[in-house]
Amino acid sequence: MLKRFVGILLMTSTLTTAGAALAQASDPDARAKAMVDAMTLDEQIGLLRTQAGFGLLSLGVPLPPSVPESMRKATPPGALGSAGYVPAVERVGMPAQQMSDASLGVANLGGFLRRGDEATSLPATLALAATFDPDLAQAAGDMLGAEAHAKGFNIQLAGGVNLTREPRNGRNFEYAGEDPLLAGSIVGAQVAGIQGRHVVSTVKHFALNAQETGRFVHDAQIDEAALRESDLLAFEIAIQRGQPGSVMCAYNRINGTYACENNFLLGKVLKGDWKYLGWVMSDWGASHSLAPSLKAGLDQESPQDDPYFGDLKDAVAKGEVSAERVREAAFRIVRSFYAVGVIDDPAKPGGPIDKNAHAAVAEKVALQGMVLLKNDGVLPLAAKAKKIVVIGGFADKGILSGGGSSQVMPYGGHFMDRRGREGIAAILSPVYGLSSPVEALKALRPDADITFDDGSDPARAAALAKTADVAIVFATRPEEEGVDAISPSLPFGQDELIAAVGAANPQTAVVLETGNPILMPWLPKVSAVLQAWYPGQRGGPAIAKILTGEVSPSGRLPMTFPASMAQLPRPEIPGFDPKNRSPLGLGAKVAPFAVPFTEGADVGYRWFEKKADKPLFAFGHGLTYTRFGYAKLAAKGGEGLSATFTLTNTGQREGTEVAQLYVAPPGRTHRLAGWARVTLKPGESRQVTITADPRLLASYDAKAGAWRCAAGSYDVYVGKAAGSRDLVAKVSLTEGAR
Ligand code: BGC
Repeated sequence: MLKRFVGILLMTSTLTTAGAALAQASDPDARAKAMVDAMTLDEQIGLLRTQAGFGLLSLGVPLPPSVPESMRKATPPGALGSAGYVPAVERVGMPAQQMSDASLGVANLGGFLRRGDEATSLPATLALAATFDPDLAQAAGDMLGAEAHAKGFNIQLAGGVNLTREPRNGRNFEYAGEDPLLAGSIVGAQVAGIQGRHVVSTVKHFALNAQETGRFVHDAQIDEAALRESDLLAFEIAIQRGQPGSVMCAYNRINGTYACENNFLLGKVLKGDWKYLGWVMSDWGASHSLAPSLKAGLDQESPQDDPYFGDLKDAVAKGEVSAERVREAAFRIVRSFYAVGVIDDPAKPGGPIDKNAHAAVAEKVALQGMVLLKNDGVLPLAAKAKKIVVIGGFADKGILSGGGSSQVMPYGGHFMDRRGREGIAAILSPVYGLSSPVEALKALRPDADITFDDGSDPARAAALAKTADVAIVFATRPEEEGVDAISPSLPFGQDELIAAVGAANPQTAVVLETGNPILMPWLPKVSAVLQAWYPGQRGGPAIAKILTGEVSPSGRLPMTFPASMAQLPRPEIPGFDPKNRSPLGLGAKVAPFAVPFTEGADVGYRWFEKKADKPLFAFGHGLTYTRFGYAKLAAKGGEGLSATFTLTNTGQREGTEVAQLYVAPPGRTHRLAGWARVTLKPGESRQVTITADPRLLASYDAKAGAWRCAAGSYDVYVGKAAGSRDLVAKVSLTEGAR
């Protein structure tokens, strides 16, 4: 398995209105039927076998001995040099499948898949989730879809919606947080945006790929009701909202069976209960069988060294797989191509890209997604703060991004931080986009004396901070696909640096560029903390605008920040071995092991509620530069549930509140059931009503195989900026289905 995967990796090293109209007008079912009926069995099988869209020979450089024979080939003719490629069936008008990663832009892993090919780099999906703004997520998807289309890709391997159960998971930056409604709404909207540009999007990784440690072998264990109410609910909401053309099944096992041959997951839930009409593709190297996988619901095998689908024609001849099943799998692909508009509006390389407009989208996400965690008053920077010292985090040069298959080489250039990395890890070193916060700050504050210190010597940095009105420390922590964080803290001595600077000057603000929550032992010593995530291509200007107050922060945490790992359901990451880590999981030798999800559906904030434990920062927390007052809180039950209140901006500046509605069904922990983003001028008031999403009022009854909204008393909470949740009322609901 590992060999197979290593090879692959080294080698690749709400429908918009227009989209909906097109899907209807194009009559995908009838057109797909006509096309697939016109195909031979060989042609149908051809659609189900994805090749790697890139070959290492094309690099024209000597390859290390670790590269398997099968990888020493050229990029397949016709492939554009990205994750996957399936040749066209020109005879019947089926275009080639050109697949690119992922959710953060058109990726170019290591920068060598397509030499010099840059793209607009979006902030981490966690930042997108922190906006609590599905319309903005759709705009981000629209931008991404437009760019993919203009580069010739018609399948974008986007839509990462695994719940962030493990705050050390190296891939959380590709996901949309720990709450099913928030994650599903954000990712579904992004998928709709991508597909509105006639590029198929996936949602992935289906399901429960919640840690990278042992991702190819581990067995995620959970009971059915808990699974349906948590990770599957996030997928279900994303699929309902985004109508993705494809679903990518995950590497791991679920309750003993690999996700890509898991009949419960693919056959029963996805294609049965949810009546999903698109196709299921395996993650790269995630398929483990032929007939059992096809029977379970896998339609297309992604690249791997020893493809099982290579034997498909023989299996049909022997009667192990029916010709009808092959036809149906091919139909699903063609149907999605018609439904999304891929065939009517073919993607071609060399299309126009409005780089400025796309950069503006990336900046908007960064601005709305940053979360002000703490502020004792140092932010926004006062006009009288004339001497400002900026320290660390390469803030003079750029901003960090997350690593792995989603890696975008941003427009404007980049550099790599090769500290502590060798071999393949050095080739895949953390990428900093050239968007300097220091330069942006200088541009916004020409009146101030702004100096930079690289932070390599805490004593020197502290001495400098002492002479300044304000010190701003930038701290970064790279995260990457395939490996979980070695520790929940900041690396490279940055904790010591922040503690020293904070001790020298209480007017210290910290800007965090991380793809996960981190521990903050220095928190009492600093005045402010801004969570900037990986802020994308326009991260520099966006951070500067928030620091100076040109824009007020409005992001809210999509993940709980624990105060210690002991608070988590799994204080240690199952299977974790600090000596056995490498990018993308390359070369890590791991025997199968179980990941018991004992928290069930009580992920993140629900777990903290259950344990009556206090996190460092709560889900939904986020401050701004003004204050909001809530009055006349009331809730209504009956057949549905809603809460109403008057919201007033009681501060001195315009600001945006993300008011959150939480509901606790009888005997259950509370759930985010809706929210409202409201922007108010100083002194302005508005009456706000938030209606609970009915999918969050119901619970799954595994015995009955059905969702039920139980009759009884529901606690209704309104969550405010500081992460507190006030019980507003207890309301009764009538018994009902979902
Ligand atoms: C990742 C997927 C990605 C695929 C293709 C895999 O390693 O898990 O998210 O889409 O590679 O690059």
